[in-house]
Amino acid sequence: MKRDFIAIPDFTSEELAGTISLARELKRQRLLHQCPKPLANLTVGCIFHKASLRTRISFETGIHELGGYSLYITKEEIDLGKRETIEDAARVLSRYLGMIMIRTFSHADVEKLAKYASIPVINGLTDFLHPCQILGDLMTMEERLGKIEGARVVYLGDGNNIANSWINAARRFDIEVILATAEGAPPSLELLKLAQSEGAKVRWIHDPVEAVKGATVIYTDVWASMGQKDKAEEKARLLRPFQVNSELLKHADSKHIVLHCLPAERGKEITDEVMDGPHSAVFDQAENRLHIQKAIMARLIEWSR
Ligand code: CP
Ligand code: NVA
Repeated sequence: MKRDFIAIPDFTSEELAGTISLARELKRQRLLHQCPKPLANLTVGCIFHKASLRTRISFETGIHELGGYSLYITKEEIDLGKRETIEDAARVLSRYLGMIMIRTFSHADVEKLAKYASIPVINGLTDFLHPCQILGDLMTMEERLGKIEGARVVYLGDGNNIANSWINAARRFDIEVILATAEGAPPSLELLKLAQSEGAKVRWIHDPVEAVKGATVIYTDVWASMGQKDKAEEKARLLRPFQVNSELLKHADSKHIVLHCLPAERGKEITDEVMDGPHSAVFDQAENRLHIQKAIMARLIEWSR
């Protein structure tokens, strides 16, 4: 039975922990120039309807290291859902490829693609979620803090795909997640309600200083996401009090780490001082995208055989 990774809860807590531990092992082996080849003889289609540095390069590199071949597919080639139905495209792509990674706008489109594809589908970011990012971030937290359990993750900024993915992380990991955003920039309230009804430790508040008290992880992201750049000024007005700067971080735990999924708009959601400061783990975080995605792909191929 084929499996997908469209959202963090697609994997059980045990499967997620196992994926992080595989990523750790792949990272260790890479230093020795070694890598298993579970993708040998397979082509992975990487569909991009939005720009990318980290996701594209880390997926393509990871696919090659795992012995596979990667195919970069843009809107110009397939125009998913416009040139033909997503259902038909999914059926045809499944005849050629071993796996699909997709970055696009509509989350529902990715769910539909996964439903009609007979090969694993990985979500490389939608307007709603960015699960590969957050699983890699949990790996970075484990490296830097020694463990994931008990962490207090405070996300400051826009209630976007990253914020929503943290809600999902709280549904599968023993962590506390505090989302501090303006009332006018909420995360998905539906997802928040669902997570809370399952007993996840996740809250949405509006006071940045209150939020960071005792935080072990401080996280931020751009105020205007891809596809929303026309709202940049409005978002900046709303979210200025949530900027991650050294003044705000005085209230966090003394051993906190700072994470940002990148790309950053330095001077807006995060200052240079914090991004380049001693608590910042942002470049480890970017590197870990490679290791975690190799682990996700290896697991999906293993489980789908
Ligand atoms: N963090 C992240 O997904 O970066 P890209 O948009 O560059 O892929
Ligand atoms: N929220 C950002 C994340 C980029 C990795 C966006 O969607 O543009």
